[in-house]
Amino acid sequence: MDNTEAHEPGDATNKTMCVLPWIHLCASIDGVYGRCCVDDAMYHNELYEQQEEPVFTLADDAVGCSPGSRYAKDNPDRVMGPEEAFNSPNMKRTRLAMLRGERVEACNYCYAREDRGAQSYRQDINRKFQHELNAAADRTAADGSVDDFPFFLDIRFGNTCNLRCVMCTYPVSSSWGAKQRPAWSPAVIDPYRADEELWQTLRENAHLIRRLYFAGGEPFLQPGHFALLDLLVETGNAGNVDVVYNSNLTVSPERARELFPHFKSIGIGASCDGVGEVFERIRVGGKWEDFLENVRRLKTEVDLWIQVSPQRENLWDLRNLLEFARTEELDIDLANVVQWPEEMSVANLPEEEKPRATAELTKLMAWCVEQGWDKPAAHLGALRSFMNSTDPTNLVHEGTS
Ligand SMILES: C[S@@+](CC[C@H](N)C(=O)[O-])C[C@H]1O[C@@H](n2cnc3c(N)ncnc32)[C@H](O)[C@@H]1O
Ligand code: SF4
Repeated sequence: MDNTEAHEPGDATNKTMCVLPWIHLCASIDGVYGRCCVDDAMYHNELYEQQEEPVFTLADDAVGCSPGSRYAKDNPDRVMGPEEAFNSPNMKRTRLAMLRGERVEACNYCYAREDRGAQSYRQDINRKFQHELNAAADRTAADGSVDDFPFFLDIRFGNTCNLRCVMCTYPVSSSWGAKQRPAWSPAVIDPYRADEELWQTLRENAHLIRRLYFAGGEPFLQPGHFALLDLLVETGNAGNVDVVYNSNLTVSPERARELFPHFKSIGIGASCDGVGEVFERIRVGGKWEDFLENVRRLKTEVDLWIQVSPQRENLWDLRNLLEFARTEELDIDLANVVQWPEEMSVANLPEEEKPRATAELTKLMAWCVEQGWDKPAAHLGALRSFMNSTDPTNLVHEGTS
């Protein structure tokens, strides 16, 4: 299939380019590097469902893995640090393919969303980093390499988490791990904490870091997350860095609150999938009152918004969530639609319930428009088309940075 595009690489309407391979590196919970957090080549969660320890083969187009990763043992020739990962053979190939206007298989998640009329992470990020997008072609050497260290990092410092949300799983949450991990794999995974090369590289390049995205696991429980904040404060670079989180905000953010004033900006997507009882039913182990207290404490100190993962369990509570956000004077983001586990996806609502759900979403969209709330209205529209799509695959789990 010919996927080539006539658009210039720096044109934000370009159908294949993504600025992330030029500015960003993702490092997953289990130590695999990615072009971004929705890199199709990065995740192999099915391995953790095996009773016997399987061979941890990396996908051919995966970027590589860190020394502390379980993948390192089975892929010794693809073990690397972040600098090498950023200019690894697959990253270089990705850049050159994008510059030629070709689609890159690892980026299918975004292309699939766009093909169904939804917004993709690629499109959002290209708009945010238009200047870097314009400069991408000029910064690329003939072999696809680029000189600078990525200024935008998404390192998942392990899976430690206090909750066991119904739509989450092991290895993403250690609490899920305590319940359902296979005997050969520990509940808590943290491939980066003891990775001296990583910490040395972060220290040497601290002055180049401009943006961090933290998720997990639960970032406010991750020692590595605190170590990176401390490192940036210590080296005097924190003031250049925008920090963005997804957090369950059911744990005390006190230590982080002390560090926040050092940074250029702090944004927190407070994950919230329902109000009161619905919150506690979905976010198992979390207390609505704790969440509320933390939200109210932090909302005056940082840029805080409500981050919803729409799913069957909360489809009928979205009105309450919207009203809650409105009352608390908070923005709300409903873009991260649950696709997996399939049975929790709104796409798998019984067909006879879909007309009623469509009508409800249409009413909610009208309500948002009346309030001048265009972004949630657009997200609800995308949710409605996702629910009614005949092929609702790969529409979800986007980074919110
Ligand atoms: C994996 S969590 C990690 C950060 C933190 N523990 C939290 O809950 O915000 C990041 C985001 O992914 C969402 N999420 C969890 N499971 C999901 C799924 N199956 N599909 C889509 N999003 C999901 C969460 O609700 C959260 O907003
Ligand atoms: S709080 Fe986040 S990481 Fe923990 S179980 Fe819930 S979604 Fe997963």
